[in-house]
Amino acid sequence: MSAAVRVRVPATSANLGPGFDCLGLALDLWNEAEFRLEGERLEISIEGEGAGRLPTDRTNTIAYGFRHFLRARKLPEPPGLKIISRNQIPTSSGLGSSASALLLGCLAANFFCGSPASLPDLLGLTADIEGHADNAAAGLYGGLVVTFHDERGWLVRQHPLPDITVALAIPAVYLPTHVARQALPLRIPREDAIFNLARTPVVVEALQTGDLALLGRAVEDRLHQPYRLKLIPGAQEAFAAAKSAGAPAVALSGAGPGLIAFVEQDGQAVADAMARAFEQAGSSVRTLLLKSTNQGAQVVETTPGA
Ligand code: HSE
Repeated sequence: MSAAVRVRVPATSANLGPGFDCLGLALDLWNEAEFRLEGERLEISIEGEGAGRLPTDRTNTIAYGFRHFLRARKLPEPPGLKIISRNQIPTSSGLGSSASALLLGCLAANFFCGSPASLPDLLGLTADIEGHADNAAAGLYGGLVVTFHDERGWLVRQHPLPDITVALAIPAVYLPTHVARQALPLRIPREDAIFNLARTPVVVEALQTGDLALLGRAVEDRLHQPYRLKLIPGAQEAFAAAKSAGAPAVALSGAGPGLIAFVEQDGQAVADAMARAFEQAGSSVRTLLLKSTNQGAQVVETTPGA
């Protein structure tokens, strides 16, 4: 059994408008962690996003993912584990940072056990905890994913994409995913279901072909955004501002609070327009310009201490 491994998982944006809980897109921004089986206790260090704020004890989400994998396979925990995590994905932003942390832990535990789990197995483990698999599937497989669950397990369709550029605006608003999920109605009118059903495959086609004008027509949603945007001060205005600044398509990123705008060229102007709208509503805001990535999670064996 090798004693050190490095794992990387990309940021992800889920839903992409109408694809609530079933579409996810991997973005070229990465959380990475190195795991070493050494010492006699759990030791975690965090650099980058969340440093000084995220827990460094057993409640840490990476460590939780690691234990969850072992528990699911009825395997014992190692006596000592050192985790050095380097985070680029902003936390609580709608970019899948918690799915990435769970995956980092699950993938490392899988590696130390000789890699017995398949990608769908790993997806299932992460989805058990998250309650939805869209972020985790995009993080594991990369590109654009469509996913659903039935009695045979998780099905994932991965679509490689041409280079897609997105501008993100992430307001400093605390909106945990479970709260954003509680805001959704339990029942929906049939016409809203049809509205989303018809658009979701067109979102997939538009992203596959890089047709952002088509994406702009298809990206609308009636299942979650109308309820969630109201919870985020300035979000409706930022949405409109992105479109006025030239973004062909805008969506709430995952459960929010970040917004994702798909852009042809002047992504910074779109990001700035969204930022101004959030600031006018009293929220401080961060912006990011990112590319999509067709690369999913990576697991690389390392030499301890290297
Ligand atoms: N599909 C999930 C939701 C994604 O919208 O609640 C959360 O990142």
